[in-house]
Amino acid sequence: MFCVKDFEAAAREKLDPVHADFIAGGARDEITVRANEEAFARLRLLPRVLRGRAVPGLDVTLLGGHARLPVLLSPTAFHKLVDPEGELATARAAAAAGAVMIASMASTVAVGEIADAARAAAGPGETVPLWFQLYLQPDPEITEALVRRATDAGCTALVVTVDSPVLGASERNRRNGFHDLPAGLRCENLVDLRDGEFGHVRQIAMSPEFSWEHITWLRSVTELPILLKGVLHPEDARLAVRHGVSGLLLSNHGGRQLDTVPATLEALPAIVAAVAGRIPVLLDGGVRRGTDAVKALALGARAVGIGRPVMWALAADGEKGVRRLLELLREEIEDALALCGAAGLDELTPDLVRPAWSGPLFGGAVS
Ligand SMILES: Cc1cc2nc3c(=O)[nH]c(=O)nc-3n(C[C@H](O)[C@H](O)[C@H](O)COP(=O)(O)O)c2cc1C
Repeated sequence: MFCVKDFEAAAREKLDPVHADFIAGGARDEITVRANEEAFARLRLLPRVLRGRAVPGLDVTLLGGHARLPVLLSPTAFHKLVDPEGELATARAAAAAGAVMIASMASTVAVGEIADAARAAAGPGETVPLWFQLYLQPDPEITEALVRRATDAGCTALVVTVDSPVLGASERNRRNGFHDLPAGLRCENLVDLRDGEFGHVRQIAMSPEFSWEHITWLRSVTELPILLKGVLHPEDARLAVRHGVSGLLLSNHGGRQLDTVPATLEALPAIVAAVAGRIPVLLDGGVRRGTDAVKALALGARAVGIGRPVMWALAADGEKGVRRLLELLREEIEDALALCGAAGLDELTPDLVRPAWSGPLFGGAVS
């Protein structure tokens, strides 16, 4: 395995095609799925030279916690669909790399067990950066029970996914008849959320009725920092700041919710301008190369998230695969930083990025 895309090919070979499609797919025509990757390809890096810089370091502070890599594992559901160890394998690999893992509410291992696995694999004296992704539930008691589970597990932030008032329509899944987990697997965080239940698995409910009031309410029931995942409109970014949100994960759900929304990289400058440095902005969607990460960071993201690559690496080679994936991205980011003449992530500035040349207009020169 020499690059992220090698894992994609390896995963395709190994997986049931229905499951490979579940991972690859997006909403409707998958225009946004493609746009995410294309947006990175359309930007060019403009490096500086002879700057006499030290070998670059990749350490980053995220919500007061420390990570050794500016790459987060974005929340993805159902890891046991592709590997028998599931999220335990992912968590060990993330902790070993010092990368933040955002455990999905729809994980096939309970968040407490994910946290234990991460702790066991982390370096001595290191706190494991584990965050929990949450879909608000119409019944506030259920949401609170989930928050309690994440808090008890030792998660240090809640990532509330707000781009899903309804479930995105994947036509691949519909054509393949893929609607649910196979027998034997279940969303372990959703088991027995109410006192006195035994073996009852709740379905994740989605609702268009959630509003900013629910974020205010969530703020009042937890001490944990709250990030919103899925804000694309700059006005919503400003509202998030006003509602006491601690960070944004700029995301279009990997093109799996509303099709034809902008690539996250395209949306980034306006979101960065809207929050004006008051809270960190993270970004996911289409990150496949160290240079992709560097471009997003240069345009103001604090870190980037990866979704599908984690599933591919896990499917290809379990924990080892995810370790290798994170090593490759580390190498590629270090390499790109050095080649840009930057000693660290904070030296990545917007002047290092420019749009690809679209060709001469009327024979005119391009400056
Ligand atoms: C198989 C799969 C499952 C996902 N499950 C969740 C989820 O449970 N919660 C969530 O907020 N986002 C989920 N996402 C979206 C990811 O968190 C992330 O936004 C997206 O995958 C990033 O784009 P990328 O796959 O191009 O890296 C999922 C994505 C995939 C591919």
